[in-house]
Amino acid sequence: MQPKGLEKMRLKRTFHCGKLDKNYIGNRVVVAGWVQGRRDHGGLIFIDLRDRYGIIQVVFDQQKNADFFSQAEKLRAEYVIAVAGQVVARSEETVNPKLPTGEIEITTEDMEVFSTSRTPPFYIEDQLDTDENIRLSYRYLDLRRPEMQRSLELRHRVSLATREYLDAAGFWEIETPFLTRSTPEGARDYLVPSRTAPGNFFALPQSPQLFKQLLMVSGVDRYFQIVRCFRDEDLRADRQPEFTQIDMEMSFCDRRDIMEEVENLVCSLFARVLGKKLHSPFPVLTYAEAMERYGSDRPDRRFGMELKDISDIAARCGFNVFKKVVERNGAVKGLLVQEGGSFSRKELDDLTALVQSWGTGGLAWMIVTEDEVKSPISKFFTSEQLADLSRRLEGKPGDVLLFVADKKELALKVLGQLRLHLAHKLGRIPGDVDDFLWVVDFPLFVYDDEEERFAANHHPFTAPLPEDLTMLEDSPLKARSQAYDLVYNGIEVAGGSIRIHDRATQERIFGLLQMTPEEAVEKFGFLLQAFEYGAPPHGGIAFGLDRLLMLMAGDTSIRNVIPFPKTASGNCLLTGAPAPVTPAQLRELHISLCKNEKQP
Ligand code: AMO
Ligand code: AMP
Repeated sequence: MQPKGLEKMRLKRTFHCGKLDKNYIGNRVVVAGWVQGRRDHGGLIFIDLRDRYGIIQVVFDQQKNADFFSQAEKLRAEYVIAVAGQVVARSEETVNPKLPTGEIEITTEDMEVFSTSRTPPFYIEDQLDTDENIRLSYRYLDLRRPEMQRSLELRHRVSLATREYLDAAGFWEIETPFLTRSTPEGARDYLVPSRTAPGNFFALPQSPQLFKQLLMVSGVDRYFQIVRCFRDEDLRADRQPEFTQIDMEMSFCDRRDIMEEVENLVCSLFARVLGKKLHSPFPVLTYAEAMERYGSDRPDRRFGMELKDISDIAARCGFNVFKKVVERNGAVKGLLVQEGGSFSRKELDDLTALVQSWGTGGLAWMIVTEDEVKSPISKFFTSEQLADLSRRLEGKPGDVLLFVADKKELALKVLGQLRLHLAHKLGRIPGDVDDFLWVVDFPLFVYDDEEERFAANHHPFTAPLPEDLTMLEDSPLKARSQAYDLVYNGIEVAGGSIRIHDRATQERIFGLLQMTPEEAVEKFGFLLQAFEYGAPPHGGIAFGLDRLLMLMAGDTSIRNVIPFPKTASGNCLLTGAPAPVTPAQLRELHISLCKNEKQP
């Protein structure tokens, strides 16, 4: 079959495939799209024709039009054609109630073939069971699939609704540079060599953090940007090297103002795009509370299974592992698994190995039955202590109680991870819940064991809580920040803070992060100087747009909501980037590669 090439198009589309229904019966229409499939029924050929809007059935009748019938016999999947014909009602037994166009079909009177197609490497349909690398190598085909088209549309709708909401709320969208200096958000930078300044590099922004703060100094008052950020970090299902933020900053506000504005934005997005009403205000947990109850700073609260402290009971028992940990100021934390009493010995051993792989010594378990508590360690507890443990964890016959004894932070973290692992494994997470919450009062600093120094928990521009300012030097790890994270179904979808807006405090924080005054000026002199020219109190937040979309779409990988994502190893399978460049390009950039790197 000869496709048309660049000859003039004869049949010009008058309707979209998916937009026709029985109201159009009797009309002569021209539809165009991709051949989804062909079914031959003797003298009749049925083609499902697909475009962005849906699928319509097109019929070729040998008796009515032998010419086109023989052409139709040659049509294959993904050929691009236009068909002109009458919209007619389908006979009752051929009505397809699953398709919006299922009550009608088009009887072909004319046809034009624009393109033929090789056999695609996978079917263009939903619920695809194809290796993701193949989908990414042929992303243009993958994006033809209806679920990917819905994903593209969702992205468009959410971006548009965000712009409309923020515009109405007085925010201006302002672009900030991509070729800039490093912004510390905790990841490695992508560097861009300068041709005109040999040996110097731009860094692609990890976020527009410093520019948006400068815009507040400029009196912009309310800024936002839907903006690409670049971070060279280890990738996971919810991380990409380039991803998009809805980035916001506001002046003369406290954190409650920002949280309220964000809640209104999220509620508006859910109402407009998904037709869902969310309950606001969203609950607020302190970091300490989130860790204590869920062993995580981004708790998934869609199922119960809260952690309980049993250190007081452990201190009195005869089990040495527990007693010693409590004596050394550690803690013993417990987790109830309803109906977990049916776990086999092997399953309990596997869970023990799992928590050990997370860095703790082991897992103690107790199975609650009608008249006793079954456990290899029950002999170390009085019956009263066993009853206390059951009561504390609210154990019922058939349940299992799991315990981890360790340094408090580790015990909480491990049991928090186990809680999630078991909830997934046992199918205890309801699918239709949208749980938003804020986590606030994070520690200002964390201790970086590798580098043996304090590091900013969020970024170094985050303001400490005013009441903790006095402890910055003496007990820095106890100081809390005015940061807040928005958590949606156990995933951090946004994070922000009230910022430092005076030079002295900013220099004090840089000092605590072991930056010399010279280094601080060399890296952030422009910000410190700006603070000397009248900086308003300000704060802001940034959403991970891809993560938000992933959750709104009910997906588990951000790659499915990004049109052209990178693989887990950071490659673009479509274009083959990153790729070598010519020696001439390198010379121009004053770059020579190390001997052991691959020379182009
Ligand atoms: P933060 O580093 O917390 O804050 O980033 C904000 C949000 O961006 C998302 N995110 C990512 N999404 C996909 N891939 C990644 N590699 C990735 N890294 C982060 C997360 C996160 O909550 N400048 C500050 C914001 C501020 O203080 O206003 C910042 O960038 O959903
Ligand atoms: P052991 O005395 O090391 O043989 O451990 C006895 C039981 O206590 C085993 O079931 C271990 O898995 C469990 N156990 C060991 N270390 C810990 C710990 N740090 N927290 C909770 N249970 C532990």
